[in-house]
Amino acid sequence: MPLSVHHLLLLLSVVVATVSAHNITDILSSNPDYSQYNSYLTQTKLADDINSHQTITVLVLTNAAFSTVAAHHPLSVIKKLLSLHVLLDYFDPTKLHQISDGTTLSTTLFQTTGTAEGNVGSVNITDLKGGKVAFGSAATNSKLDSTYTKSVKQIPYNISVLEISAPIIAPGILTAPPPSSDLNLTALLENHGCKTFSSLIVTTGVIKTFQSTVDKGLTIFAPSDEAFKSKDVPDLKKLTSAEVVSLLQYHAIANYLPVGSLKTSHDSISTLATNGAGKFDLTVSVAGDSITLHTGVDSSRIANTVLDSTPLTIYTIDSVLLPTELFATSPSPAPAPESDVPSPAPASAPAPVADAPSPDIASPPAPIGKSPEDSPAEAPSHAADSTEKGAGVHVKGSAVITGSG
Ligand SMILES: *[C@@H]1O[C@H](CO)[C@@H](O)[C@H](O)[C@H]1NC(C)=O
Ligand SMILES: *[C@@H]1O[C@H](CO)[C@@H](O)[C@H](O)[C@H]1NC(C)=O
Ligand SMILES: *[C@@H]1O[C@H](CO)[C@@H](O)[C@H](O)[C@H]1NC(C)=O
Ligand SMILES: *[C@@H]1O[C@H](CO)[C@@H](O)[C@H](O)[C@H]1NC(C)=O
Repeated sequence: MPLSVHHLLLLLSVVVATVSAHNITDILSSNPDYSQYNSYLTQTKLADDINSHQTITVLVLTNAAFSTVAAHHPLSVIKKLLSLHVLLDYFDPTKLHQISDGTTLSTTLFQTTGTAEGNVGSVNITDLKGGKVAFGSAATNSKLDSTYTKSVKQIPYNISVLEISAPIIAPGILTAPPPSSDLNLTALLENHGCKTFSSLIVTTGVIKTFQSTVDKGLTIFAPSDEAFKSKDVPDLKKLTSAEVVSLLQYHAIANYLPVGSLKTSHDSISTLATNGAGKFDLTVSVAGDSITLHTGVDSSRIANTVLDSTPLTIYTIDSVLLPTELFATSPSPAPAPESDVPSPAPASAPAPVADAPSPDIASPPAPIGKSPEDSPAEAPSHAADSTEKGAGVHVKGSAVITGSG
């Protein structure tokens, strides 16, 4: 069938376009000496972050060099530490030995998290005489007590993997952030321009769902106060309280998804609103550094990362996410069948049964001229129930995306 071939080609081209140039997990998997380091790259989702960067250098540690520090710290600290070992530049062994003036600073993934102050997020690389290259924190008074030991893998100008002798420790990097369960979520959201969202999750009790989920991983997309003022946002007062809860739960995922993981999510993602009856899922698209969430009804750009601390990520977004389960516009104009139920003239009713999404629950329309009593009473009332959502809320096809960050 020509259509399916076309479909397949389309699918293949999409898959090819989204495949990363490199896979750090795969590169490290061939050497059991790096198994701990590799396992932590996966657990902290840093592997996704590394794969989504086009020019990167990973400084790896053997199990012997890494196990002590790994054993004594929580995952959130290990993530900070490992992200200091990922340089946002390409250094192969040749380049290491050709650093101009013998010393340079390189920005790391840790710098991009926004929690690094001053030079703490950078690494000092110094070409010592006699062929040795040393690494240390770029923060003042740090020691250069880690050295280059060997090359592991290079894909020229995309990824270089180098083994070093000891962890690079920056001041304060081993201090654990407060546990997510101690976090004042409402205060954090309010301070980042999301007062409306914050008060809605409190009044509906959705915050309790968030709190009970957070330990196993949670990602929250908090629409800004501006987003709630958009004319495309339906009047929440017209929704049932269960629908408001679903709408709010749709803004969270029961998984820790930092930026790199969002960028590499190819499939649709389930949300906290996902249940047996409703998919309530999202898809993600990426253009450069910009990440956009798509609901099927509208889309929203991710504006800022408020918090990225394993196992919790909080982002602000520019538009309220409108799930198709609640806001898909009905394909045909919604009739007002309830007023026609007692009407004695079925001919004047514009066959509401035809608009019911599940024709099997409705009987065929009564032939014109038959007495109204022959028309089953529940048929139009079913139709009324099933079209009510579509009729009550009219939503435009896509939300206006504004702002910057
Ligand atoms: C990377 O490689 C690992 C191990 O070979 C594999 O399990 C994983 O699916 C790969 N990831 C991607 C994004 O291709
Ligand atoms: C790197 O550290 C060494 C030793 O502390 C220092 O002399 C050098 O100036 C530093 N390099 C840069 C680029 O700051
Ligand atoms: C390196 O990255 C560039 C840009 O993503 C890509 O076009 C190129 O194919 C990559 N090179 C290799 C050897 O994978
Ligand atoms: C959290 O912060 C809000 C103010 O934003 C405050 O009203 C509330 O008492 C705080 N909760 C806790 C448990 O500290």
